[in-house]
Amino acid sequence: MDEEQIVLSKPLKELEGIIKAISRKTNRDFANIEKLAQARSEFLGYVSHELRTPIFTIQGYLETLLNGAIDNPKVNRSFLEKALNHSNNLNTLLNDLIEISMIESGLMSLSFRYFNLFNFINEIISETKQLELNNNISINLLEFNKEIGVYGDKERLKQVFYNLLSNAIKYTNEGKIEIIVIEKSKSVIIKVKDSGIGIPEKELDRIFQRFYRTERERESNVPGTGLGLAIVKHILEAHQTTIEVTSEINVGSEFSFKLKKE
Ligand SMILES: Nc1ncnc2c1ncn2[C@@H]1O[C@H](COP(=O)(O)OP(=O)(O)OP(=O)(O)O)[C@@H](O)[C@H]1O
Ligand SMILES: [Mg+2]
Repeated sequence: MDEEQIVLSKPLKELEGIIKAISRKTNRDFANIEKLAQARSEFLGYVSHELRTPIFTIQGYLETLLNGAIDNPKVNRSFLEKALNHSNNLNTLLNDLIEISMIESGLMSLSFRYFNLFNFINEIISETKQLELNNNISINLLEFNKEIGVYGDKERLKQVFYNLLSNAIKYTNEGKIEIIVIEKSKSVIIKVKDSGIGIPEKELDRIFQRFYRTERERESNVPGTGLGLAIVKHILEAHQTTIEVTSEINVGSEFSFKLKKE
């Protein structure tokens, strides 16, 4: 009898172990689902807030115009221009949102190939300079080996440069922006360095989170959503590399990353 009990209890013990493991896993899964649901509702909250602001502003200008301002030559043109500006911002914002959702849901498809780094950076600089309205800032590419080929998705890397440069411009009142390329044996290190307002040290590790803007930017009127650097980080991670930053208040910031060399 005793013997039989022992024989029975062994599989029962195993079964108990299995049931406990399943229950632990289920609890973990539930916790994850809850976290995901929370992240999703947070994301939607941010998105609707960010979309509402430019839409309300555009509505405000258009209503004011319709209520009579259209006949006031002192303001009619500038109100229309402001409405147009905000609708352009809205367009950029929507593109960023689509971009980040695609990346985060794993739908971003990359096409990797080798391309010449010197021509690539020069193209971006000349495009950026066309947008550049502030004459107090210069963009300089420091000399490097013009023959270097790097491996990556050209279009996505263009976005990386564009986002880093537009930040450097946006957060520099006057001074210079430098692009520095350092050649190593199997890779190149690329730095975008500005002489701008800098980033407080305690916020350095948070600026890559989506929607994160420093306290200073949240309280100012500088336009932006806090998506630029999150996109940069994701794109570089898809290139098996990371973005690093060093910064000093009122001295400037330096963002750097590595790419595989030909
Ligand atoms: N070169 C820089 N100099 C100083 N602060 C910077 C610099 N780059 C980024 N930051 C800080 O990091 C924050 C996040 O940057 P990010 O590019 O993600 O968002 P954004 O520029 O505010 O908005 P968006 O890029 O979506 O238009 C910025 O709000 C700013 O506070
Ligand atoms: Mg930005």
